[in-house]
Amino acid sequence: MRFTFVTLFENLVKGYFQDSILKRAIEKKLLSIDYLDPREYSSSKHKKVDDTAVGGGAGMVMNPQPLYDALDSLKKEDEDVHIIFLTPVAKPFRQNDAKRLAKKSHIAFVSGRYEGIDERVIEKYADEVFSIGDYILTGGELASLVICDSVSRNIEGVLGNSDSLSVESFETPLLEAPSFSKPKVYDDTSVPSEYLKGNHSKIRSLKLALSECKTKFFRPEQLLKHTTRKSYEK
Ligand code: ADE
Repeated sequence: MRFTFVTLFENLVKGYFQDSILKRAIEKKLLSIDYLDPREYSSSKHKKVDDTAVGGGAGMVMNPQPLYDALDSLKKEDEDVHIIFLTPVAKPFRQNDAKRLAKKSHIAFVSGRYEGIDERVIEKYADEVFSIGDYILTGGELASLVICDSVSRNIEGVLGNSDSLSVESFETPLLEAPSFSKPKVYDDTSVPSEYLKGNHSKIRSLKLALSECKTKFFRPEQLLKHTTRKSYEK
């Protein structure tokens, strides 16, 4: 999978690939990362990329011309590129999007800075537009990294153990059961005793009960999906 980050600030993105799982995936040639700076495509004398908003409003908006030219050149080079814009005004990114996007060959993330991107660019070039949550970031770079990370771990070979994908939260309506590591007792607190006894069917049903508890507490609307699904399965 190839990822292209279309950003004015590639240094904000680069560090993330310099360690851990994604670094290994790049070394194994499962991922490749490149960057496209819209400023390099600006036709203005001083490489300007933004201006005040037409019709009023606070802050600066990214101009269409540098982004049109940058994205045209990207599409000319690879017509299959899937272009994603990051903005808080969009559908929320979810686990099923991560799994679906992991099958693409090339994804480009277009990050806005300032007050946003001229809407005409989004209308013309976006294959999809995502928000990563109901809060405002200073730009799309973090959002594009969040999506890139979560797509990448769904690409075959990126995680060592593909089992770990299937029991995770959001793969089912229930949140994942709590995990414990060694030692079995720490700070006078033991892991749940059933986990220690080795009866796997009892451990499974305890984990299910704990998952239901966590889901009821943190995400009650998810629990409703789970109980509806259970009653269909009967
Ligand atoms: N840019 C600024 N805030 C954002 C958000 N919440 N999601 C995606 N892109 C953004």
